[in-house]
Amino acid sequence: MIIVKTEEEIDLLREPCAIVRDCLNLIGKRICAGMTTKEVDTLVYDYIKSCGAEPSELGYCGYPASACVSVNEVVVHGIPDDRVLREGDIVSVDIVAYKNGFHGDACRTYCIGEVSEEKKKLVRVTEECFFKGIEDLKAGTPLYDIGYRVQCHAEANGFSVIRSYTGHGIGREMHEDPSVPNFGRKGTGVRLPANSVLCIEPMIAAGGWRVKVLDDGWTAVTLDRKSAAHYENTVVVREGGVEILTL
Ligand code: MF3
Ligand code: CO
Repeated sequence: MIIVKTEEEIDLLREPCAIVRDCLNLIGKRICAGMTTKEVDTLVYDYIKSCGAEPSELGYCGYPASACVSVNEVVVHGIPDDRVLREGDIVSVDIVAYKNGFHGDACRTYCIGEVSEEKKKLVRVTEECFFKGIEDLKAGTPLYDIGYRVQCHAEANGFSVIRSYTGHGIGREMHEDPSVPNFGRKGTGVRLPANSVLCIEPMIAAGGWRVKVLDDGWTAVTLDRKSAAHYENTVVVREGGVEILTL
């Protein structure tokens, strides 16, 4: 069941969303070759705490960190560790903050120094997929129109859409209904009500879409070990369009 939010609730949601946005902007300024993924996680933990918020991912279903830091072939849920970032890597950082009783969730993929043309294009197209996904999105839009648009753009660029992870509703819980796939058939799915709040998060692979989860139970890598990118914002569906809370 989609939990529609009141204006008061949306106002409460603005703060955790702004914290996540500002934290990702800070990471964009700091992230560089030589840094470990654990150092990225520490930056996230310290920043979120300094805002009087909680890192929602820490302890979620036993997840051991405050950020998902996913390098190259890691699609999502990369557990921060001693891995050192190197020139040419692409790194997605996915974070969630909890404040005022609500969660805000967003993700960016960063390029470390000079990266290959293919990786550069993958990062750009993944971000474009988000904006394609929200094109024409407004109250009454069928849910799977989002995924249809994302998939068209990814595949038109020779990339593939990860199937086993999706976007989601968000609010007092980090994951609420509906599940928001990045693929689908136009004109199908529930018609989204005004004031539903969604995390739209294309996860796009340079090669095939198949993934496997490593023995740690979290880290999802592409089966062909080609790179993947991830871009996410928390948005409110409005009568005339969407309001993006994490930009
Ligand atoms: N931020 C992720 C999402 O977009 C959730 C990660 S859950 C965690 O849905 F436990 F891995 F952190
Ligand atoms: Co996220």
